[in-house]
Amino acid sequence: MADDVAPIRIRPMAADDYDGVLALWRRTPGVGLGVGDEREAVVASLERNPGLSLVAVRGETLVGAVLCGHDGRRGSINHLAVVPQERGHGVGRDLVDRCLEGLRAAGIGKCNIVVFGDNAEGQAFWRATGWTARDDLQVMQRSIATRD
Ligand SMILES: CC(C)(COP(=O)(O)OP(=O)(O)OC[C@H]1O[C@@H](n2cnc3c(N)ncnc32)[C@H](O)[C@@H]1OP(=O)(O)O)[C@@H](O)C(=O)NCCC(=O)NCCS
Repeated sequence: MADDVAPIRIRPMAADDYDGVLALWRRTPGVGLGVGDEREAVVASLERNPGLSLVAVRGETLVGAVLCGHDGRRGSINHLAVVPQERGHGVGRDLVDRCLEGLRAAGIGKCNIVVFGDNAEGQAFWRATGWTARDDLQVMQRSIATRD
């Protein structure tokens, strides 16, 4: 079946998906990449959180991706991206719903996301899908890398 008429399917992200997923993230405004997004780190996250990170594919064509994991207490979802031509048809919602199902099955009761303050569309998506901004919290970060 030609990719453009194949149905969209969501499946677990595999290590082999990395190059395509990275290319999608790189061309998606609203997704910020940094230390922790190299192949080794992403593959380590996939191994620690089996089945939680997902890709959406139409045939063989990657149309969406999301990273998901947990530390045993809280879930986190990062780098949700859907290609522009497939937006507005529920792919983002389906990816996140599947992440949340996986977290629930792992016994996790809450999930955090971080969205850039200037990403109005991203924020609109999260609000429309049931997420609440915690105005009493501020994200803080410290690098503990031994190299840049
Ligand atoms: C955010 C993103 C993943 C949404 O994907 P999508 O497949 O278009 O989202 P969906 O079609 O599942 O939308 C789900 C709901 O969010 C709402 N929504 C999605 N994008 C929206 C937008 N730009 N403005 C307002 N509402 C929006 C939809 O109206 C929909 O609600 P409805 O079902 O009640 O109509 C996609 O726009 C994207 O890749 N953006 C760039 C990357 C990004 O910002 N990611 C978030 C990083 S934190």
